[in-house]
Amino acid sequence: MAVPKDAVWERDPHTAAKHDLLKQYLEAWAPILLSRHDVITYAEGFAGAGVYKQGEPGSPVVAYEVFARALHRSPKRVRLVLMEEDPRRVEELQRQMALAQSRNREDIAARLSIDIEQGDFHPALLRKLQRTGRLGKPLFVLLDSFGGPDIPYSLLHELGRYRSTEVMVTFEPAFLTRFAERHDGHRQLGDEAFGSQEWQHVFRQPSSHKFTFLREQYRATLRQAGFTHTLYFEMVDEGGRKLYLIFGTQHERGLEKMKDAMWKVDPSYGIRYRDPRDTEQQMLDLVFEPDTAPLRRILHDFISEAPKGRTVPELQRYTLLETVYRPAQVITAVRQLRESGAVTTEPRAINTKTRVSAAATSPSAGPSAEQGALW
Ligand SMILES: C[S@@+](CC[C@H](N)C(=O)[O-])C[C@H]1O[C@@H](n2cnc3c(N)ncnc32)[C@H](O)[C@@H]1O
Repeated sequence: MAVPKDAVWERDPHTAAKHDLLKQYLEAWAPILLSRHDVITYAEGFAGAGVYKQGEPGSPVVAYEVFARALHRSPKRVRLVLMEEDPRRVEELQRQMALAQSRNREDIAARLSIDIEQGDFHPALLRKLQRTGRLGKPLFVLLDSFGGPDIPYSLLHELGRYRSTEVMVTFEPAFLTRFAERHDGHRQLGDEAFGSQEWQHVFRQPSSHKFTFLREQYRATLRQAGFTHTLYFEMVDEGGRKLYLIFGTQHERGLEKMKDAMWKVDPSYGIRYRDPRDTEQQMLDLVFEPDTAPLRRILHDFISEAPKGRTVPELQRYTLLETVYRPAQVITAVRQLRESGAVTTEPRAINTKTRVSAAATSPSAGPSAEQGALW
């Protein structure tokens, strides 16, 4: 998709998937945080117009509706802080947010404040969050540009200083792989986004590895900024253009909930969305079941390394932190491994008290761990 010029543009299927992911995650995030804090904040640096050509909601409206539903069950408050550069989009956004407010009860709208500002997101967004005392309190920041790179590392570093901040950034690798090698200005944009020049090793990578390399460099950048856990979600639009959503949190619970959201959006692999109109998509086998064969192999390797085996909670934590899979998928995987004769369990019932050991001679646990290597 070319960068749209109109104030309001057509929503792509991959944007719908992005909104679905955001909604699924915020539906988990909001009640957890509202149960412990009086005020939580949702901020966007690139808010858009709040609506698409056919009337579909933009991300600020998606978020607003999630929070409105959460506030029906909680007496607390939510603040939305929205920045957008284009004045035409700001005007539309104001209209859309007023409509969202009018669709909700007055007492809900009164506890769900909206602060819209027109202008360049940086450093205005950070200043506003500082000034209003939102840093250090529960805060989710969506930095959803057209792919950039346009998020300075210095901003991520400031946000990452606080344990209660989570970020989701849209990152498009093609700009840097295509243009930056021969263009000083573009290379400098890359340096500012990554906070170092390490990413420039991409120029020496084979073509097939360039995007993966940049994605992993960007995850490393988020970790360097303080977000100890990162996840990525890959989106491919109708023209085969790849965008990554990169999520950073300092909480294992946030990691778990984002994985749950990702597996809901992509029930087969948990990490990607491909536009059905993309011709490459049509060449891929359609998989309707979760592809958990790599998880079985990864777990089998992990169990085999421990002479006394592993407990189910150990396997679940390992799955959460080291794989694309979810802790909730572990019990089924262990059962399948036992059925194939690869492991034994003690006792037989598989629950949090079960210890899992490699069978004396284990048959192969499944196909290659290609998906594990995606991490
Ligand atoms: C991908 S769109 C946002 C879409 C929106 N988050 C959604 O999902 O509905 C990116 C938006 O960022 C705005 N933008 C671009 N550069 C900006 C900047 N430096 N500061 C603030 N907004 C910017 C664009 O005008 C555009 O509306």
